[in-house]
Amino acid sequence: MSTSAKTSSRDAYDKSPFRSIKHSTYFPVYDQLLSPYQNRDITFVEVGVFEGGSLFMWREFFGPRARIIGIDFNPEAKKWEADGFEIFVGSQSSPDFWDEFFSEVGAVDILLDDGGHTYTQQIITTEMGLDHIKDGGMLIVEDTHTSYLDGFGDKSISFINYCKRWIDRVNSRFGSFVKEQKDRRVWSVEVFESIVAFKVNRAFSQQVSMPTDNGGKRDFSKDFRNADRKLVERDSARIERIIKRGFDIFGGNA
Ligand SMILES: C[S@@+](CC[C@H](N)C(=O)[O-])C[C@H]1O[C@@H](n2cnc3c(N)ncnc32)[C@H](O)[C@@H]1O
Repeated sequence: MSTSAKTSSRDAYDKSPFRSIKHSTYFPVYDQLLSPYQNRDITFVEVGVFEGGSLFMWREFFGPRARIIGIDFNPEAKKWEADGFEIFVGSQSSPDFWDEFFSEVGAVDILLDDGGHTYTQQIITTEMGLDHIKDGGMLIVEDTHTSYLDGFGDKSISFINYCKRWIDRVNSRFGSFVKEQKDRRVWSVEVFESIVAFKVNRAFSQQVSMPTDNGGKRDFSKDFRNADRKLVERDSARIERIIKRGFDIFGGNA
Protein backbone atom coordinates (compact mmCIF):
# COMPACT_ATOMS: atom_id res chain seq x y z
CA MET A 1 0.00 0.00 0.00
CA SER A 2 1.14 3.57 -0.71
CA THR A 3 2.58 5.66 2.08
CA SER A 4 3.86 8.88 0.57
CA ALA A 5 4.37 8.16 -3.15
CA LYS A 6 1.26 8.69 -5.23
CA THR A 7 -0.23 5.65 -6.95
CA SER A 8 -2.12 6.10 -10.21
CA SER A 9 -5.76 5.04 -10.18
CA ARG A 10 -5.07 2.51 -12.96
CA ASP A 11 -2.27 0.89 -10.95
CA ALA A 12 -4.47 0.78 -7.86
CA TYR A 13 -7.27 -0.80 -9.92
CA ASP A 14 -4.95 -3.41 -11.44
CA LYS A 15 -3.56 -4.26 -8.00
CA SER A 16 -6.95 -4.79 -6.37
CA PRO A 17 -7.31 -8.43 -5.32
CA PHE A 18 -11.05 -8.40 -6.04
CA ARG A 19 -13.00 -7.63 -9.18
CA SER A 20 -13.88 -4.05 -10.05
CA ILE A 21 -15.41 -2.79 -13.30
CA LYS A 22 -14.51 0.69 -14.53
CA HIS A 23 -14.39 2.17 -18.04
CA SER A 24 -10.86 2.82 -19.39
CA THR A 25 -11.51 6.57 -19.84
CA TYR A 26 -12.23 7.05 -16.13
CA PHE A 27 -8.66 6.62 -14.90
CA PRO A 28 -7.20 9.92 -16.18
CA VAL A 29 -10.26 11.67 -14.77
CA TYR A 30 -9.78 10.07 -11.34
CA ASP A 31 -6.09 11.01 -11.39
CA GLN A 32 -6.81 14.61 -12.34
CA LEU A 33 -9.68 15.12 -9.87
CA LEU A 34 -8.54 13.00 -6.95
CA SER A 35 -4.74 13.10 -6.76
CA PRO A 36 -4.81 16.21 -4.49
CA TYR A 37 -6.50 14.03 -1.85
CA GLN A 38 -3.94 11.21 -1.84
CA ASN A 39 -2.12 10.43 1.41
CA ARG A 40 -4.39 12.73 3.40
CA ASP A 41 -6.92 12.30 6.22
CA ILE A 42 -10.02 12.28 4.05
CA THR A 43 -13.40 10.57 4.03
CA PHE A 44 -14.19 8.95 0.69
CA VAL A 45 -17.56 7.36 -0.06
CA GLU A 46 -18.43 5.18 -3.05
CA VAL A 47 -21.99 4.20 -3.87
CA GLY A 48 -21.81 0.73 -5.48
CA VAL A 49 -19.67 -1.94 -3.84
CA PHE A 50 -20.47 -4.86 -6.17
CA GLU A 51 -17.63 -7.43 -5.84
CA GLY A 52 -15.56 -5.29 -3.50
CA GLY A 53 -12.67 -4.57 -5.87
CA SER A 54 -13.07 -0.80 -5.97
CA LEU A 55 -12.91 -0.54 -2.15
CA PHE A 56 -9.39 -2.01 -2.30
CA MET A 57 -8.56 0.16 -5.31
CA TRP A 58 -9.47 3.32 -3.40
CA ARG A 59 -7.57 2.24 -0.31
CA GLU A 60 -4.48 1.68 -2.45
CA PHE A 61 -5.00 4.98 -4.29
CA PHE A 62 -5.69 7.23 -1.28
CA GLY A 63 -3.36 5.50 1.17
CA PRO A 64 -3.85 4.34 4.75
CA ARG A 65 -4.97 7.69 6.18
CA ALA A 66 -8.22 7.70 4.19
CA ARG A 67 -11.52 6.55 5.63
CA ILE A 68 -13.10 4.44 2.87
CA ILE A 69 -16.86 3.93 3.02
CA GLY A 70 -18.96 1.79 0.67
CA ILE A 71 -22.73 1.98 0.16
CA ASP A 72 -24.79 -0.74 -1.52
CA PHE A 73 -28.38 -1.94 -1.51
CA ASN A 74 -27.08 -5.51 -1.43
CA PRO A 75 -26.74 -6.50 2.26
CA GLU A 76 -23.95 -8.96 1.35
CA ALA A 77 -21.67 -5.95 0.92
CA LYS A 78 -21.38 -5.93 4.73
CA LYS A 79 -18.79 -8.71 4.44
CA TRP A 80 -16.17 -6.14 3.38
CA GLU A 81 -16.20 -4.71 6.90
CA ALA A 82 -13.90 -7.61 7.78
CA ASP A 83 -11.27 -5.92 5.57
CA GLY A 84 -11.48 -2.61 7.41
CA PHE A 85 -13.99 -0.79 5.21
CA GLU A 86 -17.12 0.89 6.55
CA ILE A 87 -20.20 -0.42 4.74
CA PHE A 88 -23.70 1.04 4.78
CA VAL A 89 -26.60 -0.91 3.32
CA GLY A 90 -29.41 1.11 1.79
CA SER A 91 -30.76 2.57 -1.41
CA GLN A 92 -29.28 5.71 -2.88
CA SER A 93 -32.75 6.66 -4.13
CA SER A 94 -34.04 6.87 -0.56
CA PRO A 95 -33.81 10.36 1.02
CA ASP A 96 -34.31 8.72 4.45
CA PHE A 97 -31.26 6.53 3.87
CA TRP A 98 -29.13 9.60 3.15
CA ASP A 99 -30.46 11.46 6.21
CA GLU A 100 -29.43 8.55 8.42
CA PHE A 101 -26.14 8.06 6.60
CA PHE A 102 -24.95 11.65 7.03
CA SER A 103 -26.20 11.92 10.59
CA GLU A 104 -23.95 8.94 11.40
CA VAL A 105 -20.94 9.68 9.16
CA GLY A 106 -20.90 13.50 9.14
CA ALA A 107 -19.47 15.59 6.31
CA VAL A 108 -17.34 13.83 3.69
CA ASP A 109 -14.62 14.97 1.31
CA ILE A 110 -15.57 12.94 -1.74
CA LEU A 111 -18.76 11.13 -2.67
CA LEU A 112 -18.52 9.01 -5.84
CA ASP A 113 -21.69 7.57 -7.32
CA ASP A 114 -21.16 4.26 -9.15
CA GLY A 115 -24.47 2.72 -8.10
CA GLY A 116 -27.53 1.92 -10.17
CA HIS A 117 -27.17 4.83 -12.65
CA THR A 118 -30.87 5.70 -13.02
CA TYR A 119 -31.66 9.41 -13.18
CA THR A 120 -33.61 9.24 -9.92
CA GLN A 121 -30.69 7.56 -8.15
CA GLN A 122 -28.16 10.02 -9.56
CA ILE A 123 -30.24 13.13 -8.83
CA ILE A 124 -31.28 12.07 -5.31
CA THR A 125 -27.66 11.18 -4.50
CA THR A 126 -26.49 14.59 -5.71
CA GLU A 127 -29.28 16.57 -4.05
CA MET A 128 -28.91 14.73 -0.74
CA GLY A 129 -25.11 14.65 -0.87
CA LEU A 130 -24.20 18.22 -1.75
CA ASP A 131 -25.06 19.64 1.67
CA HIS A 132 -22.63 17.21 3.27
CA ILE A 133 -19.54 17.68 1.12
CA LYS A 134 -16.76 19.56 2.90
CA ASP A 135 -15.41 22.77 1.41
CA GLY A 136 -12.74 21.85 -1.12
CA GLY A 137 -14.43 18.49 -1.64
CA MET A 138 -16.51 17.14 -4.50
CA LEU A 139 -19.34 14.92 -5.54
CA ILE A 140 -18.68 12.81 -8.62
CA VAL A 141 -21.30 10.95 -10.63
CA GLU A 142 -20.11 8.35 -13.09
CA ASP A 143 -21.74 6.50 -15.99
CA THR A 144 -23.65 9.66 -16.90
CA HIS A 145 -23.91 8.28 -20.48
CA THR A 146 -27.08 6.60 -19.18
CA SER A 147 -28.75 9.98 -19.82
CA TYR A 148 -28.58 9.08 -23.53
CA LEU A 149 -29.72 5.46 -23.13
CA ASP A 150 -33.13 3.88 -22.73
CA GLY A 151 -34.04 2.13 -19.51
CA PHE A 152 -32.75 4.59 -16.91
CA GLY A 153 -35.81 6.81 -16.45
CA ASP A 154 -37.73 9.68 -18.03
CA LYS A 155 -35.22 11.36 -20.37
CA SER A 156 -36.82 14.79 -19.87
CA ILE A 157 -35.45 14.64 -16.33
CA SER A 158 -32.22 12.83 -17.23
CA PHE A 159 -29.17 13.43 -15.07
CA ILE A 160 -27.47 15.43 -17.82
CA ASN A 161 -30.55 17.66 -18.17
CA TYR A 162 -30.33 18.19 -14.40
CA CYS A 163 -26.62 19.10 -14.82
CA LYS A 164 -27.56 21.68 -17.47
CA ARG A 165 -29.73 23.32 -14.80
CA TRP A 166 -26.63 23.53 -12.61
CA ILE A 167 -24.83 25.43 -15.39
CA ASP A 168 -27.74 27.90 -15.46
CA ARG A 169 -27.78 28.09 -11.65
CA VAL A 170 -24.05 28.80 -11.42
CA ASN A 171 -24.31 31.52 -14.09
CA SER A 172 -27.41 33.03 -12.49
CA ARG A 173 -25.12 34.33 -9.76
CA PHE A 174 -23.84 37.01 -12.14
CA GLY A 175 -24.57 40.29 -10.38
CA SER A 176 -27.03 41.77 -12.90
CA PHE A 177 -29.29 38.71 -12.87
CA VAL A 178 -30.47 37.27 -9.61
CA LYS A 179 -29.66 39.10 -6.42
CA GLU A 180 -30.84 36.25 -4.25
CA GLN A 181 -29.83 32.90 -5.81
CA LYS A 182 -30.77 30.52 -3.04
CA ASP A 183 -28.89 27.41 -4.17
CA ARG A 184 -25.21 28.19 -3.91
CA ARG A 185 -23.99 24.72 -2.94
CA VAL A 186 -21.83 24.22 -6.02
CA TRP A 187 -18.81 26.33 -6.97
CA SER A 188 -18.22 24.68 -10.35
CA VAL A 189 -19.33 21.77 -12.48
CA GLU A 190 -16.82 19.80 -14.52
CA VAL A 191 -18.03 17.56 -17.33
CA PHE A 192 -16.03 14.63 -18.71
CA GLU A 193 -17.10 11.74 -20.90
CA SER A 194 -19.51 9.77 -18.68
CA ILE A 195 -18.45 11.65 -15.52
CA VAL A 196 -19.65 14.88 -13.93
CA ALA A 197 -17.89 16.44 -10.92
CA PHE A 198 -19.53 19.04 -8.66
CA LYS A 199 -16.89 21.01 -6.76
CA VAL A 200 -17.91 22.48 -3.43
CA ASN A 201 -16.38 25.67 -2.07
CA ARG A 202 -18.90 27.69 -0.07
CA ALA A 203 -16.74 30.79 0.27
CA PHE A 204 -16.33 31.05 -3.50
CA SER A 205 -19.89 30.14 -4.46
CA GLN A 206 -21.38 32.58 -1.96
CA GLN A 207 -19.39 35.56 -3.24
CA VAL A 208 -21.46 38.50 -4.48
CA SER A 209 -20.75 39.30 -8.12
CA MET A 210 -20.14 43.00 -8.77
CA PRO A 211 -18.08 44.97 -11.28
CA THR A 212 -14.67 46.09 -10.06
CA ASP A 213 -12.14 48.64 -11.34
CA ASN A 214 -8.49 48.59 -10.32
CA GLY A 215 -8.37 52.40 -10.30
CA GLY A 216 -5.36 52.49 -12.64
CA LYS A 217 -4.52 55.51 -14.80
CA ARG A 218 -7.00 55.80 -17.71
CA ASP A 219 -5.98 56.35 -21.32
CA PHE A 220 -9.56 56.44 -22.73
CA SER A 221 -9.01 53.82 -25.47
CA LYS A 222 -12.10 53.18 -27.56
CA ASP A 223 -13.92 49.89 -26.86
CA PHE A 224 -14.02 47.99 -30.20
CA ARG A 225 -16.46 45.30 -29.08
CA ASN A 226 -18.99 46.01 -31.89
CA ALA A 227 -16.55 47.31 -34.48
CA ASP A 228 -16.20 43.99 -36.31
CA ARG A 229 -19.75 43.90 -37.76
CA LYS A 230 -18.60 44.47 -41.37
CA LEU A 231 -15.99 41.75 -40.97
CA VAL A 232 -18.63 39.35 -39.70
CA GLU A 233 -20.88 40.22 -42.67
CA ARG A 234 -18.05 39.68 -45.14
CA ASP A 235 -17.20 36.23 -43.71
CA SER A 236 -20.78 35.30 -42.84
CA ALA A 237 -20.95 32.06 -44.85
CA ARG A 238 -17.84 30.61 -43.23
CA ILE A 239 -18.81 31.89 -39.78
CA GLU A 240 -22.22 30.27 -40.13
CA ARG A 241 -20.62 26.93 -41.07
CA ILE A 242 -18.29 27.09 -38.07
CA ILE A 243 -21.11 27.93 -35.65
CA LYS A 244 -23.24 25.11 -37.09
CA ARG A 245 -20.32 22.73 -36.54
CA GLY A 246 -20.09 23.99 -32.96
CA PHE A 247 -23.65 22.80 -32.36
CA ASP A 248 -23.21 19.48 -34.18
CA ILE A 249 -22.63 16.81 -31.53
CA PHE A 250 -21.21 14.21 -33.90
CA GLY A 251 -19.44 16.56 -36.31
CA GLY A 252 -15.69 16.47 -36.97
CA ASN A 253 -13.13 19.26 -36.88
CA ALA A 254 -13.35 20.08 -40.62
C1 LIG B 1 -21.56 -0.92 -11.28
S1 LIG B 1 -21.68 -1.79 -9.77
C2 LIG B 1 -20.44 -1.03 -8.80
C3 LIG B 1 -19.08 -1.31 -9.27
C4 LIG B 1 -18.00 -0.99 -8.32
N1 LIG B 1 -18.04 0.38 -7.85
C5 LIG B 1 -16.70 -1.26 -9.05
O1 LIG B 1 -16.00 -0.31 -9.41
O2 LIG B 1 -16.40 -2.41 -9.27
C6 LIG B 1 -23.17 -1.15 -9.16
C7 LIG B 1 -23.49 -1.49 -7.73
O3 LIG B 1 -24.50 -0.59 -7.31
C8 LIG B 1 -25.41 -1.27 -6.48
N2 LIG B 1 -26.70 -0.59 -6.53
C9 LIG B 1 -27.63 -0.63 -7.51
N3 LIG B 1 -28.70 0.11 -7.18
C10 LIG B 1 -28.42 0.64 -5.96
C11 LIG B 1 -29.15 1.49 -5.09
N4 LIG B 1 -30.35 1.94 -5.40
N5 LIG B 1 -28.58 1.87 -3.93
C12 LIG B 1 -27.35 1.41 -3.59
N6 LIG B 1 -26.63 0.59 -4.38
C13 LIG B 1 -27.16 0.20 -5.54
C14 LIG B 1 -25.46 -2.68 -7.03
O4 LIG B 1 -25.89 -3.61 -6.04
C15 LIG B 1 -24.02 -2.89 -7.48
O5 LIG B 1 -23.27 -3.53 -6.47
